[in-house]
Formats: sequence, C-alpha cells, structure tokens
Amino acid sequence: MTSQNNLTTKKTLCLIKPDAVSAGKIGEILTILENDGFHILKMKMMKMNDDIAQKFYCVHKNKNFFEGLIEFMTSSQIAAMVLEREDAINRLRSLVGNTDSRVAAKGTIRNLYGTDERKNAIHASDGSESVKHEIKVIFDN
Ligand code: PPS
Repeated sequence: MTSQNNLTTKKTLCLIKPDAVSAGKIGEILTILENDGFHILKMKMMKMNDDIAQKFYCVHKNKNFFEGLIEFMTSSQIAAMVLEREDAINRLRSLVGNTDSRVAAKGTIRNLYGTDERKNAIHASDGSESVKHEIKVIFDN
C-alpha cells in the first residue's frame, strides 16, 4: 500500500443530517465517534444549498429517491466533518449502521437517532473515491 492510499484509508467524511441536528444530537453523536477513536480533523456547520447537495449526491441522480434526498438534506443545518482513525471508512460505516434506521442494528447511530431511510441521522462515505469527492464538495466551497 502506498502512503497516499494509507492516508486515504485513515480519513473519512461524515455529515450529521438535519434530523439529528434539529433534535440536538450533535454532542451525543460526536461522543460516540470520539470514544471510538476518531479524531475530528475539520468540522463546520452549514446549510447545503441545492447546487452543493446535487454535487454531493451526484451518484444517486437517477434514483427514484433523489429529489426527496436533496429536499431533506437542504432543509436545515447539518454538521460536516473530516474524521481520522485507522480503517476510518469501514469503521465509520459499521458504527453508522444500515441505511434504513428501522432495521439498523441495535446501538448503531442510525438505530439510536434515525427514523427511516431518509431521516437517518448521519452520512458516512462509502469508499476512498467518495471521500475525496465529498471532502472537495463540502470543504473546498
Ligand atoms: S443505494 O441505491 O443503495 O446506493 O442507496 P442507499 O445507500 O440506500 O441510499 C443512498 C442515500 O440516499 C438516501 N435515501 C433516501 N433519501 C430520501 N428518501 C428515500 N426514500 C431514500 N432512500 C435512501 C440514504 O439515506 C442515503 O443517504 P446517505 O447520506 O448517502 O447515507
């Protein structure tokens, strides 16, 4: 593995979504992440506009849920962060749980704070290419 790949493996992008921010759950979610060994490299509050949301979720633009996803993600403030730890991408995905909060494993962030497949509290990058794309869209704007 090259040092570049190694760096990518250690970083991931996380969004605390409008439902969890509105419910006042940022602190509880950050505690879960920090207790699991994640370091917060960058963090900001923001309200996604339509352009940013469409760029961020461009891989889903032909899905039937795309419009609902964009509407939800632009509805109010989110907390965005770049996180670092060993095996960051896989580890965050397993802490986050299934897309649909109703079937997410007990104790996962979506089980604890989400409602369904739209209002599911948190986003986690699904691979190293997504990490690069998502950090660029969120933090280079
Ligand atoms: S896929 O098709 O398997 O790649 O999609 P999935 O990983 O299940 O979901 C991708 C993101 O779309 C959101 N999603 C929805 N939003 C609104 N309405 C509906 N019905 C819906 N279904 C899925 C889901 O929360 C994922 O968001 P992120 O931020 O990527 O976790």
